[in-house]
Amino acid sequence: MDIKSTIRVIEDYPKEGISFKDITTLLKNKEAYKETIDLMAEKLKDLDFNYIIGIESRGFIFGAALADRLNVGFIPVRKPGKLPGEIKSLSYDLEYGQSTIEIHEDALKKGDKVVIVDDLIATGGSAKACTKLVESLGGEIVCLEFLIELTSLKAREELKDYKVISLIEYD
Ligand code: PRP
Ligand code: MG
Repeated sequence: MDIKSTIRVIEDYPKEGISFKDITTLLKNKEAYKETIDLMAEKLKDLDFNYIIGIESRGFIFGAALADRLNVGFIPVRKPGKLPGEIKSLSYDLEYGQSTIEIHEDALKKGDKVVIVDDLIATGGSAKACTKLVESLGGEIVCLEFLIELTSLKAREELKDYKVISLIEYD
């Protein structure tokens, strides 16, 4: 199946000039969603890790399904104010403004091996911030996996110290 053809592209959302990759049309197609998880799981099969880390929100949709498929635990990295326990927080710059992500301080112990999952990598800002949070807790990043990569933004340069996997590319 051609998974890319099930992703709807909406022009000028959320603002003019942005070509938004809408995964809701992939998700409602049960064959496409299942095959996406099959392919994402296949690419991780030879790696040794204990947890999938999903980045809220869309990273949860793929990360949680993958954790179930691969029989590992799932750890959420969330937007501010959502996690009830002691947290570690990290703010990072966006093109305009700032954003913050959080993880439970006791979510990882030193030496835990993790794969970070998100639906899409654009500038790489969210993913990079997530690597810093994980490493601040002593976690070891085995790989980062994305369904979609916007290649013209060159996020891989930001993440050159890591193994980065993506399934579908757009310019
Ligand atoms: C989108 C996308 C990635 C991130 C990628 O999330 O799901 O998480 O942006 O951009 P970056 O590589 O430039 O950091 P968004 O913050 O829009 O929120 P959502 O997942 O909750 O929809
Ligand atoms: Mg997101």
